[in-house]
Order: sequence, then C-alpha cells, then structure tokens
Amino acid sequence: MARKNVKDILKKKKSGAKIVMLTAYDYPFADLIDQCGVDVILVGDSLAHVVLGLPSTRLVGMTEMLHHAKAVNRAVKQALLVGDMPYRSYSNAKIAVKNAKRFIKEAGCNAVKVEWFANCPSVTRAIVKAGIPVMGHVGLTPQTAKKFKLQGKDAKAAAQIIRQAESLQKSGCFSIVLECIPDKLAAIITKKLKIPTIGIGAGRFCDGQVLVTHDLLGLFTRFYPKFVKKYANLEKVIKESISKFQKEVQKGSFPDRAHSYTISDEELGKMNL
Ligand code: KIV
Repeated sequence: MARKNVKDILKKKKSGAKIVMLTAYDYPFADLIDQCGVDVILVGDSLAHVVLGLPSTRLVGMTEMLHHAKAVNRAVKQALLVGDMPYRSYSNAKIAVKNAKRFIKEAGCNAVKVEWFANCPSVTRAIVKAGIPVMGHVGLTPQTAKKFKLQGKDAKAAAQIIRQAESLQKSGCFSIVLECIPDKLAAIITKKLKIPTIGIGAGRFCDGQVLVTHDLLGLFTRFYPKFVKKYANLEKVIKESISKFQKEVQKGSFPDRAHSYTISDEELGKMNL
C-alpha cells in the first residue's frame, strides 16, 4: 500500500474533503491511527509533554524526534508522515536543510513541519529547494510562545498572522497548521490560501483538523486546553485494568489455569525430584 503524498493532500482542499491529521510517537499508536485511514500522521514535538513528561517542547531535540519518528515510520502504511522539526533545529537555512534531510533519510518521513519565527520563510525556501515538502505552523507556536493563549485577538495581531500564513505559502509550504486562533480569522486565512489549512483550536472553517492523540483519547491528564475534545477516557480504562491486575495478583487469582502452561505428571516423575 502506498502512502498519501502532498498532491493527495492538496487535492482535498479543491474537493472540499476535510483533512484529518493526528500525532503519533510510537509504533502501536501509529499502527492503530494508520489503520483508521487518517490522512496525515505528525510526529509532533508535543512528544515532550505527552510522552516524555517534559514541561516544554523546547526540551526535545533531533535525537528524541528521530528516535520516535523511526518507530512511527515502521507502522505507517497509508498516511503522509510528517516530522516536526524541534526548537533550534532550523534556526538557519544550512542547519534546517541538514536536519530536514535526517527526518526523510533516517526516519522515513515524507515531509517536515516548521513553526513560524522571523527566519521561517527563508528556512522554508531552503528546505523546499532541497526537495523536501514543508508544512508551516502559525498562530500559537509553542516553541517560541511566552504564554499558551489565544492568538490574533485584535486586528493588528490577526493581520500579522494572515501575513505570516501568506508568506509561508509563498515560500513553498504545501499546507499550514493554524493553532489557537479565532474561527473567523482561520476562515479568512483558509479562503485566502491555495494550500490547505489544518486547524487545532482554530474552529471548523479550516480545510482539516489535527489534535494531539493523547489528548483526544484522555491519556494526557495534566492540562486540557478548551479546544481539546476528549473522545475517550483511556486514563480511566487503564487505571481500572491495572487495579484489577494488581488485586488479582495480590489475592492469587491471576494467573489462573487458562493463562498458565502445563507439564504432564509423567514427565515430572521422570525428573526424580
Ligand atoms: O507538536 C504537535 O503535536 C503539534 C500539533 C499540535 C500540530 O505541533
């Protein structure tokens, strides 16, 4: 089975079919997500929060990102696989191209994602020139944000986000993540751009939606932004299962016969114990 490519994602904007993107950081989750047929799997630097227990995405680097991207790559059969370039891995064109190539060659990703910062357009142009598809990210950009809050609330800030999105499109991005901005601002950007917008906390008018998988499954319990919808409460399921196992072990009812192996008395007898 072939993976989706950038053209498939662009076609969705034209047809009006919504793009579905989710994050994955390891083999089992990537396998399940891919089997569901989602369009894009992102090895996000949200890895820092939801898997590594770190307080900031700034604390993960290329070593951690590649390690997890490689595991995800082993599972992904049909989705476009995007590697999230970590903080400081794309601070100038030379470093950016070197690290983007590592996501493609070493980890099997099909594209990379970069968050907006002053040099983002030139860095994006360099990566695209090297033949690597780039997904942009504007609005709330956690790698450089001082506070996790709604962006583009007033006319000046909203106009700035529109300019950033347009500039990333001009620099060659094939799609762009809009994070934590008002829905009507996202609608304006979505209408202005030829490339698809993928929203997270950006309302329903985007061309697609992304959530952090651990958030939607109720697996990351430290902090939930307003835009997260919990589709499951795996925290409860996991805790109940573990408590059950613990109780059964403590009272000796696990393992029972059904979960044990046997040896015949005849064979035991031969051992002269
Ligand atoms: O790191 C991440 O998971 C992301 C998504 C929230 C888009 O950047």
